[in-house]
Amino acid sequence: MTRPVVLVTLIAFGMTLGCSFFKHEKPDFIYMPDMVYSPAFKAQKEGAMREPPLGTVPRNFTPYAYAKDPIKGAELAGKELTNLLARTEDVFLRGQVLFNTFCIVCHGKFGEGDGYIVPKFPRPPSLQSDKVRTWPDGRIYHVISAGQNLMPSYATQIDTQDRWAIIHYIRALQRAKHPTPEDLARIKYVNR
Ligand code: HEC
Repeated sequence: MTRPVVLVTLIAFGMTLGCSFFKHEKPDFIYMPDMVYSPAFKAQKEGAMREPPLGTVPRNFTPYAYAKDPIKGAELAGKELTNLLARTEDVFLRGQVLFNTFCIVCHGKFGEGDGYIVPKFPRPPSLQSDKVRTWPDGRIYHVISAGQNLMPSYATQIDTQDRWAIIHYIRALQRAKHPTPEDLARIKYVNR
């Protein structure tokens, strides 16, 4: 071999050796970490789930002020909350769409507790009962907002106006099943 070739081979060999000699796992100084040490949080771990800042609410969400408790919450809500939504055709139709989306599955088409999910899910009480028919609107509003025993709250799915629309629709269902004598007098032909 000629001398330069030997020299180049030796230098190359030396460099390779040098690289492996000086390669350590924990170098003292990292001039470009390239995000190797990313301070990523594990999902669901403390610190990863951010709490909303104190005193704030999510957009389009109205917090419900009454306790779930039947006496302190439900009865008070029944007394204090009134349905301000006008009983227009649009409102009834909106209430119908929502009832048939969220409530029908358990409560049934007329609210009689015969939804499609029954009996896989326990049969809910009838919304046609004397009890619910004489409840003030606010009392039904409370059940939708806070839930009641097995029934979950619908506060995150149904906004406040829509809850009142559902209540108007429930009142229409109740009246359809319990018409007043005047209602009946207005009906000329009854299907038998
Ligand atoms: C997953 C099934 C389910 C759905 C969906 C559901 N409910 Fe209920 N609901 C129940 C059950 C079960 C009860 C009885 C809870 C209890 O034991 O007090 C109940 C109770 C009620 C009551 C109180 C009745 C009473 O006699 O105490 C009202 C009012 C009511 N629901 C309205 C609604 C409305 C309005 C919707 C739709 C927004 C709805 N529910 C959706 C299961 C459901």
